[in-house]
Amino acid sequence: MSDLLRVSDFHVKFATIDGPVHVLRGVDLAIGVQERVAVVGESGSGKSVTARAILGLLPASKTQVSGSIIFQGAELTRLSERKYRALRGRAISMIFQDPTAALSPVFPVRSQLRRIVARDGGRLGEAAIEEKMRQALVDVSIADPERVLDSYSFQLSGGLNQRVMIAASLMNRPSLLIADEPGTALDATVQEQSLRVMERLSEAHGTAILFISHNLGVVRRFAHRVYVMYAGRIVEAASTAEIFTNPRHPYTRLLLASVPRLGSTDLPLGIEGSIPDYHEEPAGCPFIPRCPAAIALCTAPVVMRSISESHSVACVSESAQE
Ligand SMILES: Nc1ncnc2c1ncn2[C@@H]1O[C@H](COP(=O)(O)OP(=O)(O)O)[C@@H](O)[C@H]1O
Ligand SMILES: [Mg+2]
Repeated sequence: MSDLLRVSDFHVKFATIDGPVHVLRGVDLAIGVQERVAVVGESGSGKSVTARAILGLLPASKTQVSGSIIFQGAELTRLSERKYRALRGRAISMIFQDPTAALSPVFPVRSQLRRIVARDGGRLGEAAIEEKMRQALVDVSIADPERVLDSYSFQLSGGLNQRVMIAASLMNRPSLLIADEPGTALDATVQEQSLRVMERLSEAHGTAILFISHNLGVVRRFAHRVYVMYAGRIVEAASTAEIFTNPRHPYTRLLLASVPRLGSTDLPLGIEGSIPDYHEEPAGCPFIPRCPAAIALCTAPVVMRSISESHSVACVSESAQE
C-alpha cells in the first residue's frame, strides 16, 4: 500500500520551567491511502502530541522537533504556517475529544459549518453552500438538518454534536482524518454509533483515518492496523487481528488484559505504575520498571524489529520471541 502519511524518527522536546521534556522519542508510523490506523496507549504516552505535530499545531516557540513527516509527498516539518492553514480542514482534518467544547457556543451550527465550507476555497453560490451543509448532516444520519443548522451546540445532545463534528471534519473530503479520542466524553453506545458513521463515510469518501484511543477494545472493529505507543515511542505495530491474537510486547498484553469484557463483572486490571518522567532519558526500554518480563538485556537501547511482514515489536524479552 502506498503511504499517504509517513512519520519517521520524529522527536519533540518542549521547553518547560522545569527544563526540557523529551516527549516524543523517535516515532515511526505510516498510513496508507484509505487505511484506518489506530494509535493506542495510556494517557500521557504522546498520542495527542503526535496528532498535533502532524497538524502543525505545536507551540513553535517552545518546541524543538526533529525527524520527518511526509504527507502526500510533501515534507510537513518545513511547511510555512500559511501553507499549513491551507492544508488543515481540507486535505487533513481533525476531530477532538469533546465535541461540545470543539464547537463554539456563540455561533449557530450553520455559521460554523459555513466557515468550513469556505475553507475549501471554491466559490459556491448561496444555494450550493446550503445544500452542501444539509447533505453533510444527512450523511451522518441527522434526520432534521434544518433544525440542527439553526441550533447552537448547547441546544444539542452530546451525540448530535459529535455527528456535527464528524460532518464538519469530512465535509471537504479530506484525504486524512485525525480523530483524537473522539467521543470519549460520550457514553459507550453513542461512541460506538459515531465510530460506525465515521467508518461508513471514510469508506464512501476514501478518507484515511488516524484514530487515537487509550482503549484497545474500541479499536478492535474499527482499525485495519494498530500502533501501540508507550512513553513517546511506538513499541508494537501490527494488523488489528495480529495485535489481538498474537500480542508480543508485555505492555500490549497488559493493555489487552485491561480491556473490560462484555458480560464480565471482573474489574479490568489496569497496569500498575505510571509512564516514566519525560525529563529523564533512560538508555534502555522505558517499560522496565513495570514489566513482568524484564531481563538484563532490556537496559540496552531498544529498536523495533520485524517478526513478520505485518508485525514488529520493540522488545527483547522472551515473551516477544515466542
Ligand atoms: N505544550 C506542552 N508542554 C509541555 N509538555 C507537554 C505539552 N503538551 C504535552 N505535554 C506532555 O507530553 C506528554 C504526552 O502528552 P499527550 O500527547 O497529550 O499524551 P496522550 O497520549 O494522553 O495524548 C505528557 O506528559 C504531557 O504532559
Ligand atoms: Mg491525548
